[in-house]
Amino acid sequence: MTSPVVARTRAELADARGGSASVAFVPTMGALHDGHVRLLEHARPLGETLVASIFVNPTQFAPGEDFDAYPRTFDADLERCAAAGVDVVFAPTVATMYPSGLVDTVTVDPGPLGSVLEGASRPTHFRGVLTVVSKLFGLVRPDVAVFGEKDYQQLTLVRQMARELALGVDVVGCPTVREPDGLAMSSRNRYLGDDERRTAASISAALRAGVEAAPRGPDAVLAAAHAVLDDVSTDIDLDYLVLTDPELGPAVAGSDARLLVAARVGRPRLLDNTALTLGGPS
Ligand code: PAF
Repeated sequence: MTSPVVARTRAELADARGGSASVAFVPTMGALHDGHVRLLEHARPLGETLVASIFVNPTQFAPGEDFDAYPRTFDADLERCAAAGVDVVFAPTVATMYPSGLVDTVTVDPGPLGSVLEGASRPTHFRGVLTVVSKLFGLVRPDVAVFGEKDYQQLTLVRQMARELALGVDVVGCPTVREPDGLAMSSRNRYLGDDERRTAASISAALRAGVEAAPRGPDAVLAAAHAVLDDVSTDIDLDYLVLTDPELGPAVAGSDARLLVAARVGRPRLLDNTALTLGGPS
């Protein structure tokens, strides 16, 4: 197992990337868990050189969110990257990523899709995500970049940005990795207490109920998923449970769809989603 080259500056990254024939890229904020390892394994065969970034991006956190408390576990992250065959870890400082400062930086406007679902409760979040991802794409110059389906709205927006701004990066989604009880893996799961952990498992149970009901059409999906969440309604603060088409537009009976949920269980806000095919007239 060889250790990845660690690049801290733009120049070190350019050196480490060199003239690689093809580059696959996995951006992360560190605190790597098995879900990230799956992203790295998915990306490994997609490029001659595999680059992972570790950067807790301040502009995607609103004041009062967990930017300062966000887990930082660099040494363990490096070991996981080495085991997954990462060639280069790009771990820049805030000044390297935002040379003009956090306020005076150029930003990427996510458009209307950035202000619904997650964007409704975190209005500046996706501007921060797209801004840092576009900077990372510019620095890493990947041919392909892999993002988790767990953050489905993020994946959809990054795809849209890459397409509309013609960034020349193929954006690939990777299926969500789950704990044995179904909970989607997330760096923020470590904030859950034991009882909250049990309650949180009902989020993925609701999605499974929705998938089972899918042949009966959109209303049946939402009713089945709500019924599961209603059972734990005193312990869970549901933000949204919505059925959309795969691009996050309105769901259409008889077509492929996405069921998405966001809920707070104790401190963390948890996100999950699943693909499903709706029955009913097409
Ligand atoms: O999904 C994440 O971890 C972050 O939003 C990303 C894509 C690394 C940008 O900071």
